[in-house]
Amino acid sequence: MSLAAHVVRTREALTAQIEGVDSLSRRAVVPTMGALHSGHATLIERAREYVGDSGHVTATIFVNPTQFAANEDFDRYPRSLQADVEVCARHGADLVFAPEVGEMYPDGATQVTVDPGPLGLLYEGAVRPGHFQGVLTVVNKLFNMTQAQVAFFGEKDYQQLVLIKQMVRDLSMGVMVIGVPTVREVDGLAMSSRNRYLAVAERERAELVPNAMKVGVDVANAGGDADAVVVAVEKFFDDSGIDVDYVVVTNPDLGPAPVGGEARLIVAVRLGSVRLLDNTSIQLGARQ
Ligand code: PAJ
Repeated sequence: MSLAAHVVRTREALTAQIEGVDSLSRRAVVPTMGALHSGHATLIERAREYVGDSGHVTATIFVNPTQFAANEDFDRYPRSLQADVEVCARHGADLVFAPEVGEMYPDGATQVTVDPGPLGLLYEGAVRPGHFQGVLTVVNKLFNMTQAQVAFFGEKDYQQLVLIKQMVRDLSMGVMVIGVPTVREVDGLAMSSRNRYLAVAERERAELVPNAMKVGVDVANAGGDADAVVVAVEKFFDDSGIDVDYVVVTNPDLGPAPVGGEARLIVAVRLGSVRLLDNTSIQLGARQ
């Protein structure tokens, strides 16, 4: 582990660095799109803890065009490479891979892609068609390029995490995927690179999202079923100035909600032009 992170911009330079790593060292990767905040920093710290001082942590910074639809924020997505590299170094990354689009996609978007299957069509996949195909394809490429044995992803993007685990299982990939709990601001808002798009008044109102999830947790703890949780959360957003994209309760694998036991409450809303996505674990039928 070094105090400064080395930055590489090309695949060739990345491969040279990775091939120089002691073959007995464990290799971790933390894929990101940059504009790094404490959530990303925590993933890097977990990776460092996991591989130990003698291990090797690569953070990747790449705003992946193929996971953005034409009407989305690819062009205005925040880019702050210099500050990001410092965050990576401070939190324990050895190497930062920050390629240009042409380096990742020298022939344009790939002809061969990873099909996320039925789960890729639900929830975020329904609102953002093609999104998860873009995510899984670039994550697969990043796994191959970094030759990582272990990869860290946030629970913040819960459907993404579940789909990446599914890809690794279904395609027998040799990478272990570790999920990291969501890091939040003091008022409970999940950290996100897109929070900086929020105007001041919107940012204040955004705390209603974690508050809504607390309502859901309380309903579940009081013995409410999945439907009761969804109804209570949707009602909480009524007249809040927040438009609900969806509120769902699922099992931890994103299948149908169980009657009792561990479940996931997922909330996607719009505040002005900004989409906010959050989720939490809930215990259904806690009193049954
Ligand atoms: P990005 O949105 O930059 O997120 C990179 C990683 O940080 C993801 O695993 C995400 O879940 C995690 N993360 C984001 N906010 C977090 C928070 N508040 N607490 C904990 N973890 C958090 O997700 C992507 O990029 C891309 O889709 C990517 C996987 C890099 C593929 O392009």
